Amino acid sequence: MMQQWFRDAKLGIFIHYGIYAVGDVSESWSFHNGAISYEDYMKQCEGFTASKLDMRSWAKLFKKAGAQYAVMTTKHHDGVALFDTKYSDLNVVKKTPAARDLVREYTQALQEEGLKVGLYYSLIDWSDPRYRSVYPEGKTKEESLDDIYGSPAGKDEEPEQWERFLEFNNNQLKELMTQYGTVDLLWFDGDWERSPKQWKMPEFREYLHTLNPNVVLNSRMQGYGDYQTPEQGIPIYGLDGEWEFCTTINDSWGYRPSDNEYKTPGQIVRMFCDCITLGGRMLLDIGPREDGTIDERQEYVLTELGNWIDDNKEAVYGTTKGLSYHQFLGGSTISADKQTLYLFVYDRPQEALCLKGIKTPIRRVSVLHTGEELKVTYTGSLPWSGIPGTAWIWAKDMELHSYATVLKVELEGEITYNLGHGEGWMMSEK
Ligand code: GLC
Repeated sequence: MMQQWFRDAKLGIFIHYGIYAVGDVSESWSFHNGAISYEDYMKQCEGFTASKLDMRSWAKLFKKAGAQYAVMTTKHHDGVALFDTKYSDLNVVKKTPAARDLVREYTQALQEEGLKVGLYYSLIDWSDPRYRSVYPEGKTKEESLDDIYGSPAGKDEEPEQWERFLEFNNNQLKELMTQYGTVDLLWFDGDWERSPKQWKMPEFREYLHTLNPNVVLNSRMQGYGDYQTPEQGIPIYGLDGEWEFCTTINDSWGYRPSDNEYKTPGQIVRMFCDCITLGGRMLLDIGPREDGTIDERQEYVLTELGNWIDDNKEAVYGTTKGLSYHQFLGGSTISADKQTLYLFVYDRPQEALCLKGIKTPIRRVSVLHTGEELKVTYTGSLPWSGIPGTAWIWAKDMELHSYATVLKVELEGEITYNLGHGEGWMMSEK
């Protein structure tokens, strides 16, 4: 169920942590797509130590980044659980030198820091024979000969095995939802290999609510969740309803030593601004090393994002999505009392910035991170017909923030608009 804390949340940290951090391969997909054999992939278990892992320091870093919640992989499509599950031996407690319940450490650390707890759980399990006991609905045997991890690949279906698999998922979710304190959010993934009917999604959703009626569910449940999760491509116009944009910090979800394609803090700040000014939030991914340390480059981006948010926090927290780009050529947010508008400036203004269609008079404009006051003038206003005219904010010489500069526009009252055009002599509609 959608919760107020999630509506208010602006940043979450996504964590892809697992045995795939041992070598230099992608999470689960590497064996599925044949980049490495299943056996070699699983051999990574031997190298997964979590030897320097300190989840408290992770949680502190997430806080410093400005996050309200985090979401960690408790089990990816490879089926390797990061927790002590009695329903499968394929878990890091039994199969790796780490030999600890990492979900326990994670949930405790988050709860101690006052962060909301999100758990990623892959519905797909490419290690479990019960998972590959049926074909994706609508797919024939012949079409699925190569689908050795997701289907019986030419063999007959065993529907009762599939039933067992669904029970297995339910059992693991019960462990996760009852043994680690409050779980605030479940982040499912991999719904696409089965239909809502095969997953029994309506019943599944109900079942999860019997474990915690307040848990927020992402909608990678064939649409049966609470919010949308656009991945990698930022929504251009924003989306209806609640949404969360998830993105990698380089090109990989999990840690890959060969991936040096890091986004800059400036790019991440811009993406974050795009999310919050369009009414969404960002789930920014990190991929810790197998020993639990975090690459300096990932830490740097998180810290810089946190510094930017801290310098501009009143434009971020407690605000709602802003104006359309027709009114202001940049991002914007609006304060909860609707009396302050925040304009996000991404480039140095050549002269004055233009703000259109705001009827409520402007009391004062200042640069948020320095407090510097800026001059505002109007052109084209027709007070007798309610046409506000264009406000010009003289921002050419203002001191910019290194990533994005926020202007605080204080209004004389609640924001009101006139989104029409000038008066008189328009073409008549004949
Ligand atoms: C994709 C991938 C997966 C990754 C996820 C994160 O669905 O299957 O590897 O964990 O995106 O959003």
